[in-house]
Amino acid sequence: MRDPDLVPVVRLAPAKLNLTLAVIARRDDGYHELHSVMATLALADRLSLAPSATRADTLHVTGADTGPAESDLVLRGIAEARRAAGAADPGDDPSSFAPGRPSAPALAARLEKRIPVAAGLAGGSSDAAAAMDGALEAWAIDLDVDARRAAALRLGSDVPFFLVGGFAAVAGHGDRVTPLPSPRGEPGVLLVTPAIAVSTGAVFAALDDGARQPDPGATRVSSVHLAQELGQGLDTHGLLVRAGVLAQANDLVLGAEVVAPGLRAFRRVLARRLGRPVGQSGSGPTCWALYASLDEATAAAAGLGRDLEAGTIEAPGDGRPFVAATTFTTREGGQP
Ligand code: C5P
Repeated sequence: MRDPDLVPVVRLAPAKLNLTLAVIARRDDGYHELHSVMATLALADRLSLAPSATRADTLHVTGADTGPAESDLVLRGIAEARRAAGAADPGDDPSSFAPGRPSAPALAARLEKRIPVAAGLAGGSSDAAAAMDGALEAWAIDLDVDARRAAALRLGSDVPFFLVGGFAAVAGHGDRVTPLPSPRGEPGVLLVTPAIAVSTGAVFAALDDGARQPDPGATRVSSVHLAQELGQGLDTHGLLVRAGVLAQANDLVLGAEVVAPGLRAFRRVLARRLGRPVGQSGSGPTCWALYASLDEATAAAAGLGRDLEAGTIEAPGDGRPFVAATTFTTREGGQP
C-alpha cells in the first residue's frame, strides 16, 4: 500500500500572537468581524507526513499537551487538501476513480506538540494549515492561492493567516489577510499560559452576552494604527513604546475573564512583577510581554519561573503555567 513516489514532508507549525484584536460586529452567521495584528512565533509544533502503510490517514501525537482537538485538525487538514484538489479518497475502490483525477494516497502524520492547546496561540489552526499545505506538497499537487485560502477557511477562522505568516493584519472573520513588514530588530516575547483551557467559542458567546469593552471603537483604532505603523517600518523600540496601548487593545479580554475568572488579576500581578505591560493573545488565557531581545525575554522567563516555583506568584488554573521566551518569525524564515 505504501506509495514509493511520495516524498516525506516536515513542517513547523508556528504559534501566533495577537498584538491587537478588535471585535467590530457580530455577523448574521454568528461569527464576528475582526481586525487584528497577528504574528507567527518561533514557538512551533513539528509535523511530519510520510506514506501510510494503510489505506487511511493516521496520526500519532507526542509532546506536552495532546488532545483530541489537535488530532481532529491534522486529519481534517489532510482531508480538506484532498477535497480541494479533487482527489479520490484512498479508501475508495481504485476501479471507481475517474481518469485524470489526482492521486492523493493515505498519509501517516506525526505531530510533536509544543504549543499549549486552547491557549489563544492557535496551535490547532496552525497544525491544520501545516497539514493541508504539507499534504499537497507530499502529493506534488499544486493548488492556486484562492483555492488554498478557501480550503483553509473551511478549517477555521485562524487558518488562512498561517498560509501567509510573519506579521499581518487580519480582517473579516479571518479571511482577509494583509502581509505587513516585521519590525526591524528582533524583539523578544515572553509567554505565560495559565493551565486553563479556554474555548474561543465560549469567549465570543460571553461577549455576545454583554461582556463588552466600554468603547469597542478604541481597540479598532489601535489595531488599524499599528498595522499602518508596521507598514511604515516600525522598529523594535517603537513596538516596545506602544506595548502599553497594545496590551489594552484586545476586545476578548472581558469575555475571557467571564470564562476564566482571575485572568485579569493575574495579568495585573504579572505586569507589576515584570515591570511592563502585559497583554492577552486571542481569546486567552496566554499572557504576553514584549522585550528588546530574546535574551531579555529569556532572563524574564527564568525569573518568573523561580517565583512560580517558590509560590511568590500564584497563577489561576490547575497547576503551573507554561512559561516560554520566544521571538517573532519573519515570513521568509517562518513558513517553509
Ligand atoms: O473558526 P473557529 O473554529 O476557529 O472559531 C471557533 C469559534 O469562535 C466559532 O465557532 C465562533 O463561535 C467563534 N468565532 C467568532 N468569530 C470569529 C472567529 C471565531 O465568533 N471571527
